[in-house]
Amino acid sequence: VTVVAAESGYKPGWTLPAAWYTEPEWLHVEDNRIFERSWQYVGWLGNLTTPGSFLTTTVGRMPVVVVHGNDGELRALVNVCRHRGSVVVPEACGSRKTFQCRYHAWTYNLDGTLRKAPRLGDDARSDQGLALERLRLETVGPFAFVCADAEAESLSTLAAEWLPLLEESGLEYDNLVLRESRTYDVKANWKVLAENFLECYHCPVSHHGFSRLIDLDTYAGHVHSDVFWHFRSTARAAAVETNTAGIGDLPRERRDLWNFVVWGSFMANIYPGAGNISTNRLIPLAVDRTLAIYDFYFEPSATDEQVCENIEFIDTVQQEDIALCESVQRGLRSGRLDRGRFVDTEVFLDRFVREVARHMADDDLAAPVLPEALTL
Ligand code: FES
Ligand SMILES: [Fe+2]
Repeated sequence: VTVVAAESGYKPGWTLPAAWYTEPEWLHVEDNRIFERSWQYVGWLGNLTTPGSFLTTTVGRMPVVVVHGNDGELRALVNVCRHRGSVVVPEACGSRKTFQCRYHAWTYNLDGTLRKAPRLGDDARSDQGLALERLRLETVGPFAFVCADAEAESLSTLAAEWLPLLEESGLEYDNLVLRESRTYDVKANWKVLAENFLECYHCPVSHHGFSRLIDLDTYAGHVHSDVFWHFRSTARAAAVETNTAGIGDLPRERRDLWNFVVWGSFMANIYPGAGNISTNRLIPLAVDRTLAIYDFYFEPSATDEQVCENIEFIDTVQQEDIALCESVQRGLRSGRLDRGRFVDTEVFLDRFVREVARHMADDDLAAPVLPEALTL
C-alpha cells in the first residue's frame, strides 16, 4: 500500500496532515518504519537479575519477552508461539525454567529454542525456524532497550549522551528501584501524546500545579541527535522558599526538572525532589488509541511518602494531558482541519514531525519524498 505521497508529508511550521493521526493504514506503516526500526525501552534490569527471571512488554505491535538465560545472557525474544501464534508468556514478569505456551503446550528453552512440541515430528522440531525470534537488546544505566532492526545503529550513542546528563542531575541511577507502574489507556494517536510532551506552551494554561512548581521561563530544549533530546527547567524560587516537596533542603541540581525524549515514543522525567525518574513509553493499540505506561523509579532512600507524593503529582499532570490529547484527537477526526500551525517556540514539534515524515518516506514501497524540506 502506497500511503506516502509527495503532497502529504512534512511542511515546515505545520503539523502533519490529520489523516496521519486518524487513518489506520498510517499506523501500519509506522509499525514497520518507526517502531520496528528503532530502539524501544522495555523495562528495568532489576527485574532480570537471576536465571529464568523475565519481563514482557509490547514494542509497537510486537509482544516481547526479555529473559535472563541459564548462561547468564539477557535475551529479547518475540513472544509469539511458532505453532499458531498465541502469546507464549502472558505474565508481566516473573521467573520460569522454560516457556510453555498455554494453548497446546509447545515448550521453549530460555534462549528461545524449541524444546518440546507434542506430536510434532523430530525433523520438524529441530527446525531452527521454530525457535522464538530473537531481537537485539542493549542497556542504558538500569534500563533495557530492544530493537527489531538488525541494521539499526547501536544504542551506545544514546548511552554516551544520556548518562552524563543523569550524572549532572545528581540522580544515583545505578541504584534505582522500580516502585510502581501505571498504564494509561488514552483515546488518541501516539503522535498526539508525543507532541504534547514536546512543548510546554500549554503548561501555564493547563497544568496549574506543575506551573506552581516549575519556573516556565527557564524551560529550554536541547537536541543531541535525531533520536535524543532533553529539556531542563528549574523549580520556582517561591517553591524553594516554601520548601514544596522538600526541595528547599536539597542541593541545587536536585531542584531541576529534566525531561528526556528518545524518538518520541519514550520519555523520562526527573522531578525536583527525592531521587526519582519516571519513564513513559507509548504503545499504539490503534490509530486513535495508545497506552502510555509509566514506570516510577526511585533511589532506595526515597520514603513511601515521597514516592506517593511524586507519583500523585505526575498522575495529576498526566490526567490533565490525557484530556488535552483526547480533545485533539476528536478535533483531528472532524475532517475540518488538515494541518495545524506551529508557533515559533514549537520547534521540537516541527523537528519531531519532520523525523516522522522522513522515516515514513524512507522505504522502497514509495518513491522517497521530502528530501529538501527535511534539512533543517
Ligand atoms: S499456539 Fe502455542 S502451542 Fe499452539
Ligand atoms: Fe502537559
